[in-house]
This record gives sequence, structure tokens and C-alpha cells, in this order.
Amino acid sequence: MRLIQNTLHIEAHLRIRAVGPPQFDLLRRMYDRFDPIGAAFGLPPRSAEARHRWICAALGHKVNVATFSPTGEAVGHCFLAVDTSSSAEVAIFVQQDYRRRGIGTALVKAALERGAKAGLRRVWGMTASADRVALRLLRNCGFRLTKSVSVEAELEIGLPGTA
Ligand SMILES: CC(C)(COP(=O)(O)OP(=O)(O)OC[C@H]1O[C@@H](n2cnc3c(N)ncnc32)[C@H](O)[C@@H]1OP(=O)(O)O)[C@@H](O)C(=O)NCCC(=O)NCCS
Repeated sequence: MRLIQNTLHIEAHLRIRAVGPPQFDLLRRMYDRFDPIGAAFGLPPRSAEARHRWICAALGHKVNVATFSPTGEAVGHCFLAVDTSSSAEVAIFVQQDYRRRGIGTALVKAALERGAKAGLRRVWGMTASADRVALRLLRNCGFRLTKSVSVEAELEIGLPGTA
């Protein structure tokens, strides 16, 4: 099964590629200007020091993808934070000037495809129950709601084996 048939429905000049520790400064610049800060369960962290530690930790995970503008600025970032050998939590952030262009959806689909290749079998995400945009994005990517407790909603998707 191919998970990202629609990945390239974002504008052609916006590129998605894998990122890691060498791209720390590009992501730091994106997150230092991010708005709203701290709105997604405290993420991105409000203090610069905590934010920079969080970016470092994020870039340590195996699956990290980002979107870049034509001038090379990072404008979206998605990573899978592995919590067991076969499961990970998805995190997705798109810079405010670049929202509503399909970038978030394309990044999550790209991360899921890489996650499946890396041997993950389950990816889950947590959002505020009132966050219609994040819920819609994850559902569009194939996630299903597994828990909705007062203010929080949890969703998950099973990934196909690649063997
Ligand atoms: C959530 C977020 C990543 C979405 O990124 P995005 O690039 O704008 O998402 P997309 O353009 O792929 O849109 C996803 C869906 O939400 C819809 N959507 C996006 N913004 C919307 C808005 N302001 N109002 C209503 N619908 C909206 C889109 O129409 C699309 O649905 P559709 O394809 O069925 O039309 C971005 O808003 C963000 O970074 N928010 C702050 C961080 C956050 O909350 N992360 C999520 C934690 S899980």
C-alpha cells in the first residue's frame, strides 16, 4: 500500500525532505518565530532554552521531515517520537504564513511512509478535542479516533509491514 499518493499536492516550489541534527539552525529559526507558541499541549515550548532542547530531542528521532521555502527556510516540520519498538507519536507544526496549503497533510503522509519503512506499525497523535484543524488533518491522513476524554482526543493509524 502506498501511503503518500497525495504528498505532492503542495505547491511544487515547496520541497519536503528528511532532516536531522545538521538542520537544527533552520528549525530553530522556524520555531523561534512560530505562532501560536505553546498552544499544542505546551509545544513548541515557550522559553527559548526549552524550545532549543526540544528541537534537538525531536531531531534525534529516526523519522523527521520538513518543508522548505524556495529561499531555503524551514516552513513545516513533522517527526515521529518513538515510544516502543513499533509505535510512535506524531508531531506536526507548520509556520503560520504557510498554513492551509496542504503542507501539514503532506508532511504527515511523508512521515508515515518513512515510519512504515523504518518498521513502525502504529502511529498515534494527541490533540485538543476542540482543535478541528489538527483532527481534520490526522483523519485525512487515515488516523481514527481512539479516545476522546474531555479536552483531549487521541487518534491512531496502523502502518502496513514492508517485508
Ligand atoms: C495543525 C497544522 C499543522 C495544520 O497545518 P496546515 O499545513 O495548515 O494543514 P493543511 O493545509 O494540510 O490542512 C489540513 C486540513 O485542515 C483544514 N484547515 C486548515 N486550516 C484550517 C482553518 N484555519 N480552519 C478550518 N480548516 C482548516 C484544511 O482545509 C485541511 O482539510 P481539507 O484537506 O479536508 O480541506 C497547523 O495549523 C499548525 O502548525 N498548528 C499549530 C501546531 C499544532 O496545533 N499542531 C498539531 C498538534 S497534533
